[in-house]
Amino acid sequence: MWVLRNNFSIGTWIVLGSVLQGVASLLLPRRYALAPAVGLLSFRLLRTGLMCLGLVPNPHMDEVFLGKLTGLIPGRDGSPPKHGSDQEVAVMILATRSNHPLGIFAPGYNELSTLFGKLLIELHKNAEETGFLGNTAWLNATEQYNTNQLMVLVYFRSREELEAFAHGPSHRRAWDWWNSITATHPHLSIMHEVYHAPAGHWENIWVNNHLSGIAATVARMDGPDGQRLRPLFDAGRGPLRTHLGRLGSGDGGENEKYGEAKY
Ligand SMILES: *[C@@H]1O[C@H](CO)[C@@H](O)[C@H](O)[C@H]1NC(C)=O
Repeated sequence: MWVLRNNFSIGTWIVLGSVLQGVASLLLPRRYALAPAVGLLSFRLLRTGLMCLGLVPNPHMDEVFLGKLTGLIPGRDGSPPKHGSDQEVAVMILATRSNHPLGIFAPGYNELSTLFGKLLIELHKNAEETGFLGNTAWLNATEQYNTNQLMVLVYFRSREELEAFAHGPSHRRAWDWWNSITATHPHLSIMHEVYHAPAGHWENIWVNNHLSGIAATVARMDGPDGQRLRPLFDAGRGPLRTHLGRLGSGDGGENEKYGEAKY
């Protein structure tokens, strides 16, 4: 849905709305012609007001984790990490943009996004065997008025597994397709960046944040009663409080000279 929204500029959406309003004005009795638009706007204003007062739920807070959390990677056997980032991680940034006047309706774009979607579905299905940890997607909404770049972060347990995916049959098929269309489809762009961080060389912190980035990975660890848990840890206390602690090389006392946030 948001890919479609992003395909047209705000100006275009407003003009589309004006045309609809124009049609309504022609068809409806004069005194009711503005009712749908005014009604919708009043409803939204009222709802925002009620949300500010706490009288109706605020959907922006759905799935927000209050407090300070860090996302770690459990062992392959589901064992919880012992000290911060004690697993390595390989991250691939992939991005695509259609530079065609038709945006996502350009020749080739549908194949590109279908092939890409299939790759991600396959990775999610075979996460354990492929070392895939999860992915999140981002849209650079401020880049242009429309058809902005779509970026996906893909996390793997190791560089070798990332490479095995890149050279595996499914990605090779997508790659061959891409090679066959580049000359005729110069309006489609793709890019990637790859980073590999050995154990003890990456960390993260999430404050009152929803699950995005590495916090949204699919890896689960064994909880105390045998439940499978998200590998998210309270970073408000203990060694995980600090950058060095989360890297696995500090005890959490490094920032004592600074003030502490209250949650
Ligand atoms: C997104 O677009 C803005 C505006 O062009 C640019 O400054 C920024 O670097 C872009 N972000 C990424 C991740 O490419």
